[in-house]
Amino acid sequence: MDDHHPAGSPRDDSALIKMKSIVIYYSQTGNTKKIAEAIYAGMSEVSDKCVIARLQDVDTGDLAGYDLIGLGAPVWHRREPANVMNFIEYTMNAVEGKHGFAFCTHGLYPGRFLARVVMLLIQRGLTIIGWNNWYGSVFLPEKPKPYFTDGHPDEIDLAEARDFGRKMVERSRRIYAGEDGLIPSLPQGREYDELYPGPPRGIHRTTEQRELIGIRAFEYSINKEKCAYPKCTVCIDNCPTHSINLSVSPPILKDTCDRCSYCEQICPRGAIEFDWEPIVKIVDEDAIRHFTRVSEEAESKGLFRRLVPLKDVGWKTPWYTHKKPPRLKPL
Ligand SMILES: Cc1cc2nc3c(=O)[nH]c(=O)nc-3n(C[C@H](O)[C@H](O)[C@H](O)COP(=O)(O)O)c2cc1C
Repeated sequence: MDDHHPAGSPRDDSALIKMKSIVIYYSQTGNTKKIAEAIYAGMSEVSDKCVIARLQDVDTGDLAGYDLIGLGAPVWHRREPANVMNFIEYTMNAVEGKHGFAFCTHGLYPGRFLARVVMLLIQRGLTIIGWNNWYGSVFLPEKPKPYFTDGHPDEIDLAEARDFGRKMVERSRRIYAGEDGLIPSLPQGREYDELYPGPPRGIHRTTEQRELIGIRAFEYSINKEKCAYPKCTVCIDNCPTHSINLSVSPPILKDTCDRCSYCEQICPRGAIEFDWEPIVKIVDEDAIRHFTRVSEEAESKGLFRRLVPLKDVGWKTPWYTHKKPPRLKPL
């Protein structure tokens, strides 16, 4: 965990809010990491003790001493990644009565992430004092590249995140001082769906197409010629759900794999293979229209700032066609 040491002359700590806070994040392609760092910078401007930590580096004992705990992650499959759910349910301890906030980055569909994470954190005994979401670039092998939301988070997003961080500390101080009226409630039902859209409804899919979408990930094949296990364990070390064991068959545990494609994307030798072509073929004119409409609706509500013109969305050039694995480097 890093303590914040702003460059330049030493600051006057006596003017800062006396509070110990932590920002915990999970990030695979860097979007949530950038937002988390900006939130942390904002919090550090107004509070005297703030740290930032990757979710993987936080152990149970770490949280007992914090007054304010922020937790952020990418949206996966319209909700929180499984490792984030496990973290909240099993790793977070001694957090009753503390303040918390949640944040995420996502492509077009934030979906149920905030509703679920806020509920899970409340169930752990935290008082949730805020939440926020930002668009982020998308690097899924079968998705168009450029994607609708590429270019986010940009400087404007990061300035917002910094401001959000400052606000969370200031709000927390006031609530601890007795201003309970400042505790917000998450919008419900239609109001929630308007703010945090799910995927477009009404795209017609055959049973075969549904099955194809569902199997992505754990139907990978490991090319034994290319795989350098046990000398190389990059996929094992970076699998968020610890679902890979290359010494058994099948090597990817179907029941726990969160279908994130990270192993296939980061393998230094491209030894984890998958045929993306059939999945990409599912995308037809109907699907393109639906996705386009969701982006336009979000834009018209002022939720989405488009940086990639619609005509440049790379439907014919999905991410996997741009680069052979390794496409991503583990963070
Ligand atoms: C497995 C997977 C599933 C995803 N599912 C969604 C989704 O349901 N809705 C969405 O808007 N974005 C989705 N995304 C896009 C990510 O939320 C987005 O790229 C995010 O900013 C990534 O954050 P990171 O760079 O911190 O890993 C998904 C990405 C992955 C890898």
